[in-house]
Amino acid sequence: MQPLEIKKDIYWVGAVDFGSMDFHGYSLSPKGSTYNSYLVKDEKIVLFDTVKHDFLSTMLARLSLVTNPESIDYFVINHVELDHSGCLPQLVKMCKPEKIFCSPMGLKAMQAHFDTTGWPIEVKKTGDTLCIGKRTIHFLETRMLHWPDSMFSYIDTDKLLISNDAFGQNIASTVRYSDEVDPAMLEFAMREYYHNIVLPYSQQVLKVLDHVTALKLEIDMIAPDHGLIFRTKEQVNMVLETYRKYALQQTQNKALIVFDTMWHSTEKMAYALSEGLRLAGVESHIMDLKQHHHSTVMTELSRCGLVIVGSPTHNNGIMPNVARMLTYMKGLRPQNRLGAAFGSYGWSGESVNVIHERLSQMGMEMPLPALKTQYVPKEAFLKQCEEAGKTLGEALQVKVAAEAKRLG
Ligand code: FEO
Repeated sequence: MQPLEIKKDIYWVGAVDFGSMDFHGYSLSPKGSTYNSYLVKDEKIVLFDTVKHDFLSTMLARLSLVTNPESIDYFVINHVELDHSGCLPQLVKMCKPEKIFCSPMGLKAMQAHFDTTGWPIEVKKTGDTLCIGKRTIHFLETRMLHWPDSMFSYIDTDKLLISNDAFGQNIASTVRYSDEVDPAMLEFAMREYYHNIVLPYSQQVLKVLDHVTALKLEIDMIAPDHGLIFRTKEQVNMVLETYRKYALQQTQNKALIVFDTMWHSTEKMAYALSEGLRLAGVESHIMDLKQHHHSTVMTELSRCGLVIVGSPTHNNGIMPNVARMLTYMKGLRPQNRLGAAFGSYGWSGESVNVIHERLSQMGMEMPLPALKTQYVPKEAFLKQCEEAGKTLGEALQVKVAAEAKRLG
């Protein structure tokens, strides 16, 4: 693929990774990913971020079609995580840049990742600018969106926001713009990315969105470091509004039932709970953790205001798949949810209390005591599960209605 001129004298020179379905070792990326890097040719030639180490030759081949890499004057490192800085040592050696710009926390991160002896690093803080000829770059630190060092770069003459990880999506594609793909696929990819990477920093997202609004930045293109570029006013507004919606985490009128099972007893309870929810008018989605990765669960949870988690008791605790999923979920700090626990047991029955406690620790409201049954659930108990599903569904609807009233 050729480099792509996204604005006059501004080029995408990144790399498309069709080959990896694993994002950073913790999340699935079924559509692959993209490591975007941008080159601006002005009086100074500036490279924004690099790519994952494995893609150095791909990036260099692309970059070389636009400029001699040795002619690059400045590097701007908006984020030091290795999917963006992985090629930095080689590029510094090759290009010998006059300056490397990063945030104050970026300096610390860079020093902790690499031997930076002799690197011409200069720190840029929020509000600092850099004139590169006709253009001026404005820097905006976006700490904890999603690392302490994260930063945006805004190029005023081009109304271009280079946003690093924010607004990204894990999409490998031969097209580069968001308006060139199916909008439903795009929204799914944005949601998947947000709820597996950005979700814990939702308060920071809201602060950054407010800051960008207060600065009255005119933005007609957002170029993230993963996935597709938003090039129209409509697409820019769409992504900003979508991020605000995600960050607010308003309660959704849908339930997620997620479980593991040994001999199908906990599974039978899951389906009975789902039937009760249906009778209460609440759609539910059932996920068996033997089939679904924990990151897929989080993507689904993004649409659900109620999460019901089930596990049989195994060695006085919960099943390993459930433990992994709950650990992952807790780290991502979902807010504003109802929760419930269920499961079967043989003789000791601790699993449901473990789940109940873990969901409570995440701040979830737990409208019902945990549901458990010994060995194989009988029809009468499954009826109880169905009733519990109805009660939970009604509680969810009350919460959704109260929230709608509060927000007007
Ligand atoms: Fe895409 Fe935080 O690296």
